[in-house]
Amino acid sequence: MSRALVRPAAPEDAQAILELWRLAGAFPTRTDDEESVCSLIAHDPEAVLVAEEEGEPVGTLVAAFDGWRGTLFRLAVLPTHRRRGVARALVAKGERSLRERGAIRVNLYAIRAETEALEFWSAVGYARDEWTCRFVKNLEP
Ligand SMILES: CC(C)(COP(=O)(O)OP(=O)(O)OC[C@H]1O[C@@H](n2cnc3c(N)ncnc32)[C@H](O)[C@@H]1OP(=O)(O)O)[C@@H](O)C(=O)NCCC(=O)NCCS
Repeated sequence: MSRALVRPAAPEDAQAILELWRLAGAFPTRTDDEESVCSLIAHDPEAVLVAEEEGEPVGTLVAAFDGWRGTLFRLAVLPTHRRRGVARALVAKGERSLRERGAIRVNLYAIRAETEALEFWSAVGYARDEWTCRFVKNLEP
């Protein structure tokens, strides 16, 4: 059972969140910068969750709702704090928050090679969808 306290992030957390993603080896993305994190928090103050132990961030999850689907991004736990239920606590809080905001279906993308992530999502009740694949495009500034 995790001792972590899960709370919505504030703009002041952005730098610590970016550092946590680096330390956790989270797959790098185009939006790994302070402006993007703060923009998401401004758009939806409930979307970015931080798990803290003894006042220090040890995990994160983005639980975003676009009015249609809930989508989970950036689940990451520090290597020193894994297998203690931190990710499970983050997802439970994210799901509750999404439900309160109106979501009834949640999806996420996982990297096929990140086997611990695949094991985790199965363990917390997510089914792998073999019918779809993901298309992405980075927009020019
Ligand atoms: C995947 C990750 C978030 C899991 O975080 P965590 O806090 O260690 O996960 P939890 O302790 O809540 O694990 C819950 C359950 O998931 C499964 N699980 C978690 N990590 C696992 C691993 N490495 N191997 C097998 N099963 C695993 C287990 O069933 C576990 O329950 P148990 O410990 O009672 O056996 C963490 O390993 C991580 O940050 N990895 C790098 C970033 C990443 O891959 N993020 C996911 C992007 S989609």
